Amino acid sequence: MTVATPSHKRTTRLDRFYYGATYYPEHWSVDDRANDAARMAAAGFNIVRMAEFAWDYLEPGEGVYQFDLFDEVSAALGAKGISTMLCTPTATPPRWLTSAHPDVLRVNAEGVPMQHGSRQHVCPSGETFRAYSRAITRAMAEHYVDNPYVVGWQTDNELNCHFSECHCANCQTAFRDYLRRVYEGDIASLNRAWGTTFWAQSYDDFDEIDTPKVARPAYPNPAHQLDYFRFISWNTTRFQHEQVEILREAAPRWFVTHNGTFAHIDYRGPFGRDLDFLGYDVYPFFDHDPTHRPLSQAFNLDHARAWTGNFIVPEQQSGPGGQAPYLHDNPEPGEIRRMAYTSIAHGADSLLFFRWRTCRFGAEEYWCGILDHDNEPRRRYDEVKALGSELSTVGAEVLGTRVLVDIGIAAADVDVYDGHSTMSMGLPSPRQAAEAVHGAFLERGYAVGCVHPSDDLSDLKVYVIPHWALFTPTWLPNLESFVERGGVLVIGALTATRDWHNAVVPETPPGLLAKLAGVRVGEYGRQNAPDIRPLPLRFYPGDAQPLSRHWYEVLDPVPGTHICARWMGRHLRLKAAVTERKVGAGAVFYVGTYLDDALVDALIPFLTKERPDLTQLWPGLPSGVHVVVRQDDAKLLWFVINDGDSAAKVPSLPPGVDLLTGKIVSGRTYMQPYGVMVIKECLARVEQE
Ligand code: GAL
Repeated sequence: MTVATPSHKRTTRLDRFYYGATYYPEHWSVDDRANDAARMAAAGFNIVRMAEFAWDYLEPGEGVYQFDLFDEVSAALGAKGISTMLCTPTATPPRWLTSAHPDVLRVNAEGVPMQHGSRQHVCPSGETFRAYSRAITRAMAEHYVDNPYVVGWQTDNELNCHFSECHCANCQTAFRDYLRRVYEGDIASLNRAWGTTFWAQSYDDFDEIDTPKVARPAYPNPAHQLDYFRFISWNTTRFQHEQVEILREAAPRWFVTHNGTFAHIDYRGPFGRDLDFLGYDVYPFFDHDPTHRPLSQAFNLDHARAWTGNFIVPEQQSGPGGQAPYLHDNPEPGEIRRMAYTSIAHGADSLLFFRWRTCRFGAEEYWCGILDHDNEPRRRYDEVKALGSELSTVGAEVLGTRVLVDIGIAAADVDVYDGHSTMSMGLPSPRQAAEAVHGAFLERGYAVGCVHPSDDLSDLKVYVIPHWALFTPTWLPNLESFVERGGVLVIGALTATRDWHNAVVPETPPGLLAKLAGVRVGEYGRQNAPDIRPLPLRFYPGDAQPLSRHWYEVLDPVPGTHICARWMGRHLRLKAAVTERKVGAGAVFYVGTYLDDALVDALIPFLTKERPDLTQLWPGLPSGVHVVVRQDDAKLLWFVINDGDSAAKVPSLPPGVDLLTGKIVSGRTYMQPYGVMVIKECLARVEQE
């Protein structure tokens, strides 16, 4: 089973909701571990994840394998009904390997090889390391093929998390070979695509090309950089694929996943398609503002779902995270549960906490798990246990359901993201822009999600492309038919101004979208922050006058395109800033500045005029209570989540049973701080009503 068609609507097709934690038996004595299986079972666990950093235990010397510890632990857990997810341990290659083959170490842009003693210090470009990776994967797969408790695998761990670039000798060769294949051996074609006439960069041969280094000495060519990032994605995908092939051949019954999502990997491409479903690790406390944390968590989850659909959470924060320079605050009572239901509401089909017990040594000796250093079960354990009991009901209900999305925000395109990073001009990234738009709709109670432009747009009412400079004509037919069939498309400034090689297009902006939008950009300019010459725009009808930020464009609408907002300041006065063109049964809005909360607020009346069926999911919710719906053909699951640390009064909820209490909910309800309801509404009953 692989992801043939990645879609935000795809479910994992898991046959059970897995609940558990990451577990590191290699860190603990027999005494420390004595009560683990019993305590996990009492907490409702049915899975643990193990071994992602245990290569030195599993293969203490080249070709010498020992599996006894993991066999014993897996059997002890299995006896209590707890399955095992294993990981290939390739994020931490052992010292004997790096001593014998120092050429496998990653090399940074300064030419400094990485050291043994941390993790992700090895580069997957060369055959030497990949042969070791295949050997340990094969040894583990063969050993565990008949183990009844092993249900699936995670490849490596968070590939590209710390450091994705490498400039080692193997990378030079592999990058050149990659380019040779992509440009079909035609160096003239590469020279044209990269615009190498600029600063005398012309190449006579692929072997003359090096991996690009920023500030060596000045700015590199953005086309060169973008192809290098694509090479990293291809290289990482090849590395994972070799492991996946071995695992699939050994036992087709195993699921295979990976915990993303990090830089320079195309999770919608072959990397994601190799997996049964994607894993996404959830660490909300990296957002230090507790009032914003639920919003950023929601965005990150919706963004994760945009790559291939519903996912599992192989790691979710269960305590204060700490590494050398920082320590997070402790989740307050109820907050672990709030964070878990937020993940499930936004598409998680299984959830494991990081980590079972806090380690007493190493770089993460303050990264706190469910149990403290002293192995005493306290509040966090009690909360995880109570959640386990709830999930024994809710888990089965969510499987097979997908998240309801009315408003899709364009997201999850690695080429667009990497293209921006090579030539950002100091502007917000497409991901940051998407987060601003997502947050604006989510806070106002709409069913918003992230959707790639090549995905199925048919259920959406509104689709927003924030500021995607890189654009390909292959997306156009899908957008055109979305609008023809009644969808409302919102295009943000700067979109479709660069081609797939990162070069600026010769057509007047918005390039290949100009015809659909019925507009041409006559003048544009940067607004540097803090902008000492604020530039408002005014919407008609209405009196919204948001300030524009980051960027302005003066629009020339073609006949038939309507002006919705005009500039109100400086030399732009009364010139068009936002336009609308009716197309087929739908409409296209073009916004000549950056989309932020105020801009979205001003646009909403225009969007709802076109689509009166675009309504808030549950009107009248107090601020800080957020609703997400998961659905299938038979039912709706309303996740009503109080994001805040004070009680909230929620008016007239949808009628149904709260799966967490088993009670029928109707009318006004009080929610505890961080309180959650999961209301099941059967669609058959709605139809009868
Ligand atoms: C994750 C990683 C874990 C652990 C955790 C806490 O990103 O996969 O191994 O390091 O963060 O830092």
